[in-house]
Amino acid sequence: MLTTVITSTENNICTITINRPDKLNALNRTVIDELGIAIKNIYQDVEIKAAIITGAGPKAFVAGADIAELLTLDTRGGLELAQTAHETVFNKIENCPKPIVAAVNGFALGGGCELAMACHFRLASEQAKFGQPEVNLGLIPGYGGTQRLTQLVGKGRAMEWMMTGNLINATEAKEAGLVNHVTTAENLLQQTKDILKVILSKAPLAITEIIRLTNIAARGESNGLQKEIESFGRLFSTADAKEGTTAFLEKRKADFKGN
Ligand code: COA
Repeated sequence: MLTTVITSTENNICTITINRPDKLNALNRTVIDELGIAIKNIYQDVEIKAAIITGAGPKAFVAGADIAELLTLDTRGGLELAQTAHETVFNKIENCPKPIVAAVNGFALGGGCELAMACHFRLASEQAKFGQPEVNLGLIPGYGGTQRLTQLVGKGRAMEWMMTGNLINATEAKEAGLVNHVTTAENLLQQTKDILKVILSKAPLAITEIIRLTNIAARGESNGLQKEIESFGRLFSTADAKEGTTAFLEKRKADFKGN
């Protein structure tokens, strides 16, 4: 039974809500552990075909790592905290074969911004505020921020945002490519679900390959073009590729089965 993370699945989309609104959904160890369990379930549950990550309450998506816990850490503790979180949550989200989208409903600071950036893409409410303010604490981002912020908004903006710790509003975040869409708080979850509904009508194996190859490109890994060629070839032996091409020629909607 999870206490700091609520999950609910409807129409094959699991909504994961970080639920510590009195602490602006700050990521303490329990939240990281429970997020790890929720993400593992996204991988394993065949009924779940996509996920949304959001925050409870009107104010915050996630206002960062829990600063009260950070105070107690030494070098080994800091390293272990970051390593575990990368392995069980952040990298797991990024590499998930099913789409995971952040619906950013308020403050997404520090680890909250990093959580949103680990997702495959992001929508934000008009109230959302992003930032990597760790520098105010004498620290740096530890959940992937230096890498993923640079990938998403480019070196110049990433350097300035991390070195100043400034908060970035939703309009600026959209201009910079950090979020894809800005909408009202009331419309945020529905718009996210509408986009996922479109994605879930496509061939699941193709979606998985798009996630894998786009991550390779964003991380600057080598041989991305060659990996694309191989993946393109492999998909021709799937039933869904036959179905998709046949359906087009027969002027009907494709019925993809995920094989
Ligand atoms: N860790 C632990 N507790 C946090 C937190 C965090 N990252 N962010 C907010 N909280 C707690 C506050 O301590 C407060 O708890 P309290 O009511 O028991 O005192 C509660 O959440 C509400 O926050 P508060 O600061 O009163 O709200 P605000 O509207 O005045 O300010 C923020 C909102 C987001 C600007 C402010 O909370 C903030 O700067 N948070 C830290 C952001 C940060 O540095 N994150 C990176 C951490 S690495």
